[in-house]
Amino acid sequence: MTVSNEDELQGLREIGRIVANALAAMGKALEPGMTTAELDGIGRAALENAGARPAPELAYGFPGATCISVNEEIAHGIPGSRRIEAGDLVNIDVSAEMNGFFADTGASFAVPPVTRATERLCRDGRRALWAGLAQVGAGKPLAGIGDAVGRFAEKNGYTLVRNLASHGVGYSLHEEPKEIATWPERSERRVMQKGLVFTVEPFLSLGAGWAGNGDDPWTLYSEPRAPTVQYEHTVVATANGPLVLTLPG
Ligand code: CO
Ligand code: CO
Repeated sequence: MTVSNEDELQGLREIGRIVANALAAMGKALEPGMTTAELDGIGRAALENAGARPAPELAYGFPGATCISVNEEIAHGIPGSRRIEAGDLVNIDVSAEMNGFFADTGASFAVPPVTRATERLCRDGRRALWAGLAQVGAGKPLAGIGDAVGRFAEKNGYTLVRNLASHGVGYSLHEEPKEIATWPERSERRVMQKGLVFTVEPFLSLGAGWAGNGDDPWTLYSEPRAPTVQYEHTVVATANGPLVLTLPG
């Protein structure tokens, strides 16, 4: 969507804060021995207590309130009986709707003790996200995001997953502009209109280049298998640059 008035911005700010708080609560609760279903329950409670509805369920009939992807799983993992173990890399993606407005956020968490390489991957995943966000602003090229993330990944020796793109959000979970690359994409010619609402969500990896399907219709896996992280914010392109909506508060 494109924000055209203060009421719309307010609605987006509210749902942005709610998904961010739910993600933070889940990250804080994450510990070895708990199942991903238990972790999802914490997210669901945070969303529903704030008056929001989990978007994956609402929009796609996803079997869970949030997507939880562990290790070889990198996106759209189904919460269930899998138990979190020390050393796991856990991605939590939280999206929800309230009063007709949607926001989407995500983060990867390493469950201690973890290797230095995993610690560095998590830190740099956040840096890659912010390198992309820094390119957001009214009138700027969408391609600037993928170019900046691509430069960051190359300079620091990482690969990027090139078939999981960022997307417009606001009136629904996934809307125009669709398929915003977080990797260099020469065919990308679109420009960010003032007020455009979308996600930035690069997948930084120690070797994976794409996400592949598994046995269930949802879960996506790193291909080739390698530790992979995703960090995601919902952002508005303003005349003053990025306005990040999914910060806790
Ligand atoms: Co997401
Ligand atoms: Co998203």
